[in-house]
This record gives sequence, structure tokens and C-alpha cells, in this order.
Amino acid sequence: MKPKKNGRETRHIFYRDLNREYPVIERGEGIYLYTREGKRIIDGASGAAVVSLGHANPRLVEALKKQAEKVAFVHLSTFSSEPLLKLADEIASVCPPPLKRVYFTSGGSEAVEGAIKLARQYHVERGNRDKHKVISRFISYHGSTIGALSISGHAGRRSKYAPLLSSFPRIPPPYCYRCAFREHRKTPHPPHCDFECAYELERAILSEGPELVSAFIFEPIIGASAPAVAPPVGYLRRIRRICNKYDVLLIADEVMTGFGRTGKFFAFQHYDAIPDIVTVSKSMSSGYSPLGAIIISDEIYRVIEDSPTGAFVHGHTFAGNPLSAAVGLEVIRILKEEKYVERVAQLGEYLAGKLEGLKRRHPTIGDVRCRGLLAGVEFVSNRKTKKPFPREMEAARKIADLCLEKGLYLYPGKGSCDGVRGDHLLMAPPYIITEEQIDEMIEVLSEAIAEFEETVLSEETHTTGQAV
Ligand SMILES: Cc1ncc(COP(=O)(O)O)c(C=O)c1O
Repeated sequence: MKPKKNGRETRHIFYRDLNREYPVIERGEGIYLYTREGKRIIDGASGAAVVSLGHANPRLVEALKKQAEKVAFVHLSTFSSEPLLKLADEIASVCPPPLKRVYFTSGGSEAVEGAIKLARQYHVERGNRDKHKVISRFISYHGSTIGALSISGHAGRRSKYAPLLSSFPRIPPPYCYRCAFREHRKTPHPPHCDFECAYELERAILSEGPELVSAFIFEPIIGASAPAVAPPVGYLRRIRRICNKYDVLLIADEVMTGFGRTGKFFAFQHYDAIPDIVTVSKSMSSGYSPLGAIIISDEIYRVIEDSPTGAFVHGHTFAGNPLSAAVGLEVIRILKEEKYVERVAQLGEYLAGKLEGLKRRHPTIGDVRCRGLLAGVEFVSNRKTKKPFPREMEAARKIADLCLEKGLYLYPGKGSCDGVRGDHLLMAPPYIITEEQIDEMIEVLSEAIAEFEETVLSEETHTTGQAV
């Protein structure tokens, strides 16, 4: 064991942030986690919008156990498995046409990497060899691997690794609270806006050269980077039209939103257009085993099928292993049988009301957003000007730590304003949560924010001279 700078001892584990202590979780049950010391914590973010069916779900545990007793692993280069075949059928049954083919991965970044490679191959097989650029949106997050990070627009997550990343074009997101166009061009607030942010896609395609652009990737409802930011109705229809016009594939990254999180099976179903490719993971296995997938249209599938090699070269060892497939299959069955997606939509309305109440109580809350059980609370130092807190202040992290002390885990994030500044908390409780438990979560969060406002903030304003 090696002493740390601050005198603490560490073990051999290399944590993400070496300045933090990580409570050791011994077990989970329902929406609760229990530390080694016996402290109970509400898992208010389901990990990172993962454990949608709650901890220690007996059906999921049993599905894993049964499959492990049969066969835990086969390699997809040569074999398939019964749960994998069934899972693909189940996924196809909840997807609208033409999204009927499923390529399995073992996580979200892998699915995103696969989606951008697949888009490129689709164009190559059709004779458009120059098409390779992927347009994405500012502040977006699509994964941590080099390709997925290259297309992510989150400056804070990219900056240290920038020399390793490929450079791709980006457009502004439909972030109405901080609408880039309203401020500069005085266009009215949605729904009467003129969708400048959607038409930016056309401008970007034309300026890059349509013959070079392969795909546009976006989150239909934003997750980690600006939780629950949802575009006005009409945005997706316009984006779809622009993609069709220039033969650009539309990739919906539903790694965080897929499998019911926003109150529809997929977030794009809140709108009136269908993407060509959808990436999924997280809730897909409810966290019981790593799993992800790229769901694609019949047309893309046929192009690969008819190509000279008939192959898509994107194999990852653990992709679609039988154990993960078995649990994924049980997840989707439970979602259907227990009507969880409808439940999420209903609970989302309840949560949205509670968040509005929370905002009224706290001047440091600039915006609250909620779609199903995906919610975001955005903090500002000045509600009128929407000015974010100074980056160094780590406001969201401080509030999340206060919540944790009080027995509530929420997922803090930064960069929602410009990729670097801007503090928010992501709330994404398991679908099994009750209204009473939502009340409890909101009460704890409110106490934590009040404490932040009273103590931490007054200390900060004392030293920086800035008032809220
Ligand atoms: C929208 C989105 N895409 C991709 C990813 C990357 O997924 P993973 O962490 O499983 O690699 C994430 C993870 O948070 C995500 O939210």
C-alpha cells in the first residue's frame, strides 16, 4: 500500500479520480445500495442510467444463473446462441420498421464505434468511397474510446487527448435554455423558433462537401452532457429530411435513453422521424452484465449482405456473449410484461412536477428538465443571466457529495454550458421507484442544495466576491 499525497492509504486499484474516496458497495436491493459499513444510499441515477430494473432483481439473477449453468461464453466469430437469437427477435419486435437488424456489442462506446464504421462501409459498398465524415453536436458525449471521443463535442472530456483525436465537424444542439440563435439573432423561443440549429446541419454538410459526409450522430434526448435536453417537435423531422437530401445516415445514440428511460422504448419515438442506425447499451441489460447493440435498417443490412465480402469487420471478444444476452432477453420481457415503459412515462410526470417545485425553492437552479425518468437539474450563479458557476468551484460535484453524505446518489456533470463550464446533476432512478421514494429523493436533494447555498456558497462568494 502506498501513502497518498493527503496521507490516505490506497490499495492497488487505479480509480478514475485519485483525489476521491470511493465508498465500497456491498450489496444492492431495489433502488437502494448498501455500503460495507451498512449505510443505505438511494441509487438515484441507476449508476449512470443503467440499473433500470433495480438491484437484486430475482428474475434477472435467475436468468443469469440459468444461462451460466448452460453456457457462459461462445465467440461470435464462429458461434451463435439461443438467447442471442431470441434477444435480436425481441429487439426487432419493439423497433419500428425499417430498424429490424441487430449487431451486438458489449457496451456503448463499442456500439458507437461500430455505428460510424458501419456508416462508412455502407457508403463504400455503394460506390461512394469519399464519404467518411461524421457530423455531431457541440457538448455531446458518445463514449470514451478514440473514435467515439473524436465525434464527441464535449471539450472538457476531449482536451487532454485532443492530439489523438480525429477532427470532425460539429453543430449546435437544440438546447433551448441556452439557445445560441435566440441570443444572437433574436428569434423567438420554441415552439415558434425557426429551427436554426437543425438547418445548421445542412450548412455543415454543404460546407464540408456532401460527397464527404457519411453520417450525423445525435442523442434524441441528451443524457450525460446536458441531461434531458429535448428538442422541440419538428427538429428531428427537419434533420431527417436534410440527411435524406444529401445521402447522410442518421445515427441516434440511445445508449443512455434506449429501453424505456424517457417514457418511450426509444427517445426518438417522442418525435416524428426514424433514424437509420440506433446505438443502445446501459438499460439493455439493467447492468447485470455488459451488453450493447447497433440496431440498423433493413437497407443497410442488405447493402452489407450484397457486398463482395458480405462482412462487417467489427468484432469484440465479449460482444453478445450468451450470459449478457440471457439477461438482456429477460430485461426486455420484464419491460413488456410489467408495462414499465408506460410506468416510466407516468412517474416522469410526477417527477417533473416535483422538480418544478424544487426550482422554486432554490435560486441556484437555472433549469430543470425531465423526460420519463431521465431528469437534469442545471445550476447557475445568476438565474437571470444564466451565468454558470466558475469551473473551479465544482458546484455540481459539491452538491452531489452533499447528497451522498445524506444517502442519495446522483450523477454530477459539467460542461453543459460550453463543454467546460456549466454544472448539472443527472437523475435517473430505477423504473421500479415509487412516488414516495421520488419525494424522498427530492427532499434529500433539496437539503443538499440548501446546504450548498447557505454554507459552501457563502464561503465561495466571500473569497471570490461574487454573489448568487
Ligand atoms: C449517449 C452515450 N453514448 C455512448 C456512451 C458510452 O457508453 P459506454 O460507457 O458503455 O462505453 C455513453 C455513456 O455514458 C452515453 O451516454
